[in-house]
Amino acid sequence: MEPQARPADPCILVIFGSSGDLTKRLLIPALYNLRRAKLLPEAFSVIGVSRQAIDQETFRRDFGASLRESGNGEVVDDDLNWLTERLYHQPGEFNDPATYKNLAQLLAKTDEAHHTGGNCLFYLATPPQVFGPIVQRLADAGLVREEEGHWRRVIIEKPFGHDLASAQALNRDILGVLAESQIYRIDHYLGKETVQNVLVFRFANGIFEPLWNRNHIDHVQITVAETLGVERRGKFYDATGALRDMVPNHLFQLLTLTAMEPPTCFGAEAVRSEKSKVLEGVRPFGPEDARRNVVRAQYVAGIIENKRVDAYRGADDVAPDSVTETYVALKLAIDSWRWAGVPFYLRTGKALAARRSEIAIQFKQAPFALFRDTPVERLTPNDLILQIQPEEGVTLRFSAKIPGPNVRMDGVEMKFNYQDHFKAAPSTGYETLIYDCMIGDATLFQRADNIEAGWRVVQPALDAWAKDRAENLPLYPAGSAGPSEADALLARDGRRWRPINGGNGPSS
Ligand code: BG6
Repeated sequence: MEPQARPADPCILVIFGSSGDLTKRLLIPALYNLRRAKLLPEAFSVIGVSRQAIDQETFRRDFGASLRESGNGEVVDDDLNWLTERLYHQPGEFNDPATYKNLAQLLAKTDEAHHTGGNCLFYLATPPQVFGPIVQRLADAGLVREEEGHWRRVIIEKPFGHDLASAQALNRDILGVLAESQIYRIDHYLGKETVQNVLVFRFANGIFEPLWNRNHIDHVQITVAETLGVERRGKFYDATGALRDMVPNHLFQLLTLTAMEPPTCFGAEAVRSEKSKVLEGVRPFGPEDARRNVVRAQYVAGIIENKRVDAYRGADDVAPDSVTETYVALKLAIDSWRWAGVPFYLRTGKALAARRSEIAIQFKQAPFALFRDTPVERLTPNDLILQIQPEEGVTLRFSAKIPGPNVRMDGVEMKFNYQDHFKAAPSTGYETLIYDCMIGDATLFQRADNIEAGWRVVQPALDAWAKDRAENLPLYPAGSAGPSEADALLARDGRRWRPINGGNGPSS
């Protein structure tokens, strides 16, 4: 986070779901990091809303405890105290109009005490079923009206809908009481520095963009691999699955930033319009393509990092005969001048051999084997790899001559590693997003059409799966690179996945 950026506008941040996991693990450290970076305004306070019947003192104590437990690093007491003095708690049910009446009173008192100018940011860190009802109740209580020069904004967490129809319904509901400019739909992948860097990499350098098209690119692979299994999220995950959990949101952020046309400026509307155009250009799956080009699978018991991991079906709150996918791989075609004929292969899964997120651009091979002893297909492919996590950086692979009298070649790499170059302060990824919302910059948030365009792409697969009996759901051992069906998806096109651990060998 840029230390020289100006502090955000005076405001009150109201967190619905202040006793939840997201608040404790990510929002509290993010607020603290913003304070450390001097990006919170002096006129600031936080109101937590939760069902817990706790008083203000307990809320303040718990905030400090959560910060220390979050693993965010050393805590500077002065900064924690600065925040603590500005914390309040409003107990109540999210569906109860009385909660909002009490909240209105607490807001008025807090505004007066901290001179926050009536500006208010409501953060919905709650289960998705209450997003719509909370917005409606806020509106009923008159809390989202922007008048007398103050602003009212609402941050909505993911998942935004469960499918296209529910996302459209939620958009309709909230747009009935809020202007689009008041709505900040979050996708935490856009808070990651390396994700934002995709745009800088492409559009602030002259040398890559001329190559960034069907003339030079053979295909693109986007991977978000996790070693974590479903852990204690069985209830949510079993009703969700890998496709809904990761693809229309996080993976499509990576896809759209990689594939979009240059926007006319780095402003919210221009960037978001270009992102939507990419998804609108994805060739829609017919029912047969959805089966052929989308692979789903579930993990069975295996070993990850020398530890035994139980099968997904054995996890808490997962049905013993669950057919929910924990892995998904898909092949997309984008019908555009730039990308015609360039397949985009996307994959994500839980309980895989390595944690690794990356965008790999594979360039076309040299046209013929000038070096007769090394056939073209054995030349190192020119890959450009944008590494998102855990390592953050950019790697370019190419062929080089092995020293010696004969012309023999090997694959080598040029590597840029973020950490070697930039000394970054601790960050959860939420700092930028909260700060941007406070200054009214929606570039890194999803507009209604972005969300719906993402769901529209995956909906045929959801429909096809709902019809199919999933008795033959492919399985993969925990700790592997995924199911062989995913390898077959690429093998059909004469290609193969990059190794899941980022090495240079074949995928599994
Ligand atoms: C969340 C998903 O949105 O993103 C999780 O619900 C997933 O299932 C997580 O583990 C991945 O985020 P990150 O930042 O760890 O890559």
